[in-house]
Amino acid sequence: MHIDFTGRTALVTGSTLGIGLATAEAFARAGARTVLNGRDEARLKSAADGIRARVPGADVVTVAADVSTAEGARALLEAVPEIDVLVNNTGIFASTPVLEIQDEEWRRFFEVNVLSGVRLARQYMPGMMERGFGRIVFVSSETAIDTPLDMVHYGMTKTALLAVASGLAKAAAGTGVTVNSVLPGPTHTEGIEEYITALIPEAETFDAAQREFIARFRPTSLIQRLIRPSEVADLIVFTSSDRASATTGAALKVEGGTLTSLTP
Ligand SMILES: NC(=O)c1ccc[n+]([C@@H]2O[C@H](COP(=O)([O-])OP(=O)(O)OC[C@H]3O[C@@H](n4cnc5c(N)ncnc54)[C@H](OP(=O)(O)O)[C@@H]3O)[C@@H](O)[C@H]2O)c1
Repeated sequence: MHIDFTGRTALVTGSTLGIGLATAEAFARAGARTVLNGRDEARLKSAADGIRARVPGADVVTVAADVSTAEGARALLEAVPEIDVLVNNTGIFASTPVLEIQDEEWRRFFEVNVLSGVRLARQYMPGMMERGFGRIVFVSSETAIDTPLDMVHYGMTKTALLAVASGLAKAAAGTGVTVNSVLPGPTHTEGIEEYITALIPEAETFDAAQREFIARFRPTSLIQRLIRPSEVADLIVFTSSDRASATTGAALKVEGGTLTSLTP
């Protein structure tokens, strides 16, 4: 299958690291003009330089903006007024017992993980519908379906994204714009490496910690390993392509089989 984004612009929020960076790189490889976003200029520059080095000829633009704020959303719109693909990837996680999560923290998780993407969809979707083509992908999580005991606030935001994507897909009916959510499982990013290392301090190597993590905390994983960021990126890029024109309002799993339900 040939996937070509030549002539298209893809914005990936939170793309200085992890899944966002891998997704931005995959769009650049597929020929898109790719907009990287994060809050820090130095991290953005290093991410963009990395993609340019790995993908000769990559057309990469960087915009520093905090997407959890209305000002950040406006700054993105000013810098890049028209896009064809919006990947709402930015997300934070933390491990806290549910009864200890304070109001401010519930609000912060909602604003960073949910409202950020809602605002960007609101500002970019009308233009996509007018032009008759657009793709919006929300990066949710397996925790949307299976709420983790130590991250209920995080799980809440990821479940909310399924409803947001479904509702926006209905709002875009018949316009050529699709809206979907993608549900990764534990993916090998810097953040998850820290999380697993803290959870299993007795492991001698990260590889041993990773195997122990899967055995103890994700025993239903069918791939029995962490997911590679590029594996998530590939599903996002396909979902954003011309070829996925009949996939909308969907919740697409890329969680290595950890969710045992037949439907997401
Ligand atoms: N890793 C996993 O196992 C996993 C599993 C399921 C779902 N997910 C979801 O996948 C997405 C990416 O996760 P990840 O683990 O790849 O993340 P990550 O490695 O922690 O990277 C987060 C990215 O978001 C940026 N960021 C954070 N807050 C921001 C803000 N307010 N405005 C703009 N950028 C912001 C960070 O850049 P700066 O710090 O430079 O601003 C960074 O580029 C998240 O939505 C996460 O919930 C991850």
